[in-house]
Amino acid sequence: MRFLLLALLGPALCMAACPYAGQEKSQATCPYARRAQAAAPDANANPHIPREITVPHAEGKKGVMLMNRINPSSMQLYIANADGTNERLLLGNQSVFEYHASFFPDSEHVAFTTERNGDGNSDLYMVHVNGSGLRPIATTPAVEDAVAISPDGKYAAYASTRDVYTSNIWLTNLETGSTRNLTNQTGITGNPYSPSGFFAPTWSPDGKHIVFSSDRNTGWTGHDNGTGWEHTQNLSIYSITPQGTDFRLVYSESALSFGSPKFSPDGKRIVFYEMTLQQTYDSRSSFGEDSLENQIVSVDFATGTDRRRETNSIGCKVYPQYVSNDNIAYLVKGGPNAGLHYTGSSHNVSGTFHSPSWSPDGKHVVYEKTGWTTRALQKRLFTWDDEWEYRFMDAFPDLSNDGKLVFTSKQTGTPGNASVSVMLPSGHKFNVPFGTFEVVPNPVPYASVSEGGAGCFQPSWSSDGKWITFGLGYWFQSRSSKPGWIYRTRSDGSYYEQLTFDSDNSGSNAGYPSYSPDGNQIVYRVFEPEFGLRLLNLDTNKTTTLTTERDNLPFFSPDGEWVLFTRNVTDFSSGQFSNYEVCIIRPNGTDYTRLTWSAANDAHAVWTADGRIMWSSGMWGFQAEAATYDDTFQPYGQIMIMNVDGSNKTVLTNSMWEDSMPRYVLNSDYYPSR
Ligand SMILES: *[C@@H]1O[C@H](CO)[C@@H](O)[C@H](O)[C@H]1NC(C)=O
Ligand SMILES: *[C@@H]1O[C@H](CO)[C@@H](O)[C@H](O)[C@H]1NC(C)=O
Ligand SMILES: *[C@@H]1O[C@H](CO)[C@@H](O)[C@H](O)[C@H]1NC(C)=O
Ligand SMILES: *[C@@H]1O[C@H](CO)[C@@H](O)[C@H](O)[C@H]1NC(C)=O
Ligand SMILES: *[C@@H]1O[C@H](CO)[C@@H](O)[C@H](O)[C@H]1NC(C)=O
Ligand SMILES: *[C@@H]1O[C@H](CO)[C@@H](O)[C@H](O)[C@H]1NC(C)=O
Ligand SMILES: *[C@@H]1O[C@H](CO)[C@@H](O)[C@H](O)[C@H]1NC(C)=O
Ligand SMILES: *[C@@H]1O[C@H](CO)[C@@H](O)[C@H](O)[C@H]1NC(C)=O
Ligand SMILES: *[C@@H]1O[C@H](CO)[C@@H](O)[C@H](O)[C@H]1NC(C)=O
Ligand SMILES: *[C@@H]1O[C@H](CO)[C@@H](O)[C@H](O)[C@H]1NC(C)=O
Ligand SMILES: *[C@@H]1O[C@H](CO)[C@@H](O)[C@H](O)[C@H]1NC(C)=O
Ligand SMILES: *[C@@H]1O[C@H](CO)[C@@H](O)[C@H](O)[C@H]1NC(C)=O
Repeated sequence: MRFLLLALLGPALCMAACPYAGQEKSQATCPYARRAQAAAPDANANPHIPREITVPHAEGKKGVMLMNRINPSSMQLYIANADGTNERLLLGNQSVFEYHASFFPDSEHVAFTTERNGDGNSDLYMVHVNGSGLRPIATTPAVEDAVAISPDGKYAAYASTRDVYTSNIWLTNLETGSTRNLTNQTGITGNPYSPSGFFAPTWSPDGKHIVFSSDRNTGWTGHDNGTGWEHTQNLSIYSITPQGTDFRLVYSESALSFGSPKFSPDGKRIVFYEMTLQQTYDSRSSFGEDSLENQIVSVDFATGTDRRRETNSIGCKVYPQYVSNDNIAYLVKGGPNAGLHYTGSSHNVSGTFHSPSWSPDGKHVVYEKTGWTTRALQKRLFTWDDEWEYRFMDAFPDLSNDGKLVFTSKQTGTPGNASVSVMLPSGHKFNVPFGTFEVVPNPVPYASVSEGGAGCFQPSWSSDGKWITFGLGYWFQSRSSKPGWIYRTRSDGSYYEQLTFDSDNSGSNAGYPSYSPDGNQIVYRVFEPEFGLRLLNLDTNKTTTLTTERDNLPFFSPDGEWVLFTRNVTDFSSGQFSNYEVCIIRPNGTDYTRLTWSAANDAHAVWTADGRIMWSSGMWGFQAEAATYDDTFQPYGQIMIMNVDGSNKTVLTNSMWEDSMPRYVLNSDYYPSR
């Protein structure tokens, strides 16, 4: 989930990303918080597992891969006049989950991204503006997005992660369907230890050039000058021909990021948004986009000179587009000026729109509206693996040996109290053996919990199924300054106890516990001023130090031979910023081994029952321009799996969203009696 990556992040944090780097801003900004208002399954406070069986097992598969995803729960395309009047659903009752639309040169057709072939699988379709003639353009299991139709109406240029997981520019002939990439070539693809994404293609009016943004050969840099774990994006503007020749840099400035380029109707200039690297992070959070100020600029296409600043106002500005040679339309997302703006007019269209695109004749605009209700637990997702059916799950799912799921009810629940929740895989209902507000006096205030930054994180079963251990406290950025403690509860909710008391007086935040298979030990992590993994012996109540680095999310392997965890291996001197990697170590402190080596974040690793390791990796980079996301912090997170020695790393998801927190559940765990 969100966390994953975030989590990855290392330190405790993980999840949600919400609480960012040192700036605790206003609430309701966190995706969690937002979802929390949404409808949820019954939170049955009564500690017994509901009997009713409502969820089927995965027919014809080994079982289900539960996972979390952070993205809007609904996205629907609207078409309206450029002044905002006469708005209607573009696809009417054919709407499923659509976004990032653009007009054909004839102003009569629209191309767009849709997940109508499965939740998380971005494909391209087209339709007449009257809603007829819906048909596919590109539909692989990879991401296809940001489509732009050539001036002669014959080709679609778009961004796709096909074959290589990183985003490249691709071309599809709309008549023949023939498809090829333009940017996965020697001399264009970035070096393997840097981002190498190509995004947001657009055509010159004469059809001879395709211009796009790219973060090739830049660094993986955390926000807030590298102290945050989520990445900023350093984009420059490049050009290539539709034949894949004459690749060149059009515009770049070292301290700034430039994206979403578009040509002027006369083909002489290109316009794009300009923002600082930090703003590529701030602009994808609701708290950041409300207050940031960036501008729209244009340059001469042939020379990259004659830079003009086209706006001079407050607001987060994205999606600029010439609607005539002297009028540029753009979106202000968030803040007091939120809405559609035109440099040639003082008439603005106020409102919350996403990714607007104007018709070439300037008369119409198409955009999406989004919703953030919670997906139902066990909602089917697009499945990239033939052997497992993918389904949605809330945070930190862990399966007991007798087939019960425990999780942190972060997105579900009323209102997402981040309590310890237990359910059968086959049910929709869950009960709450331990509620976040059960301890009196309450160690974490309601406000921090509803913002998504506190509560019961990483519940983990004892192997006999009688106990669940978890961390109760503050997480994410506030782990540095606020407390967290290890607790355990009986799984029937009849009793709980606190296991760490800050007895060393160091004030370090303790969290993310996991039981050893023999039930005698709990491993957990502490953060600031002390760091590292600790082992609590439940027979003697003695605590020993396993590691002292910035480690997090430890898990005992099913055979008890290893502790899996995420380590912050950031080394500023070697130019690596905000780098988290998946590692293992023996419970006796020997055989420390780093299993992942990407310069991006790899984190939030968990064991599979057969002793392999699943985790979330950012190594494939952003799957779209960072600034165009809303309330998603690590949209580069893909779930992967590997052997315990780090071999056979295999990608299991390929969405443009933040995917994380996987857990395999065999069909026999859905229906043990069958
Ligand atoms: C969808 O909308 C069209 C046009 O408004 C209508 O003819 C059709 O019956 C609708 N289909 C369904 C399933 O509602
Ligand atoms: C939609 O437009 C197409 C193409 O112009 C036309 O053939 C069709 O009749 C139109 N459908 C409706 C319902 O207006
Ligand atoms: C992209 O195109 C080049 C040149 O045609 C080809 O060698 C390469 O394999 C293609 N890459 C992908 C990911 O298809
Ligand atoms: C492009 O893609 C192919 C996969 O088709 C990959 O094997 C190759 O190394 C890539 N080439 C370059 C130059 O990036
Ligand atoms: C990053 O560092 C620069 C220069 O030291 C400083 O001006 C800026 O405030 C810092 N930004 C953040 C978000 O910490
Ligand atoms: C990761 O480690 C580096 C170096 O110790 C530190 O500066 C940075 O703040 C850490 N990142 C996080 C998110 O804790
Ligand atoms: C951004 O990337 C460019 C390469 O495209 C590089 O020259 C520049 O130093 C980078 N800027 C920062 C702040 O890292
Ligand atoms: C429209 O937005 C611009 C730029 O944000 C602002 O200067 C102008 O006052 C707004 N016009 C109206 C009528 O609100
Ligand atoms: C969450 O906590 C609030 C405040 O204590 C309470 O009103 C609400 O019922 C709780 N919800 C759940 C599901 O525990
Ligand atoms: C360990 O601590 C628990 C309370 O947390 C106590 O009940 C138990 O007796 C202690 N065991 C030993 C061996 O001190
Ligand atoms: C640590 O555990 C490993 C694996 O069980 C064992 O081979 C090794 O001898 C142990 N080392 C020490 C110092 O206990
Ligand atoms: C590598 O992992 C994939 C995906 O789990 C699996 O299908 C394949 O059998 C594995 N291959 C080896 C050699 O382990």
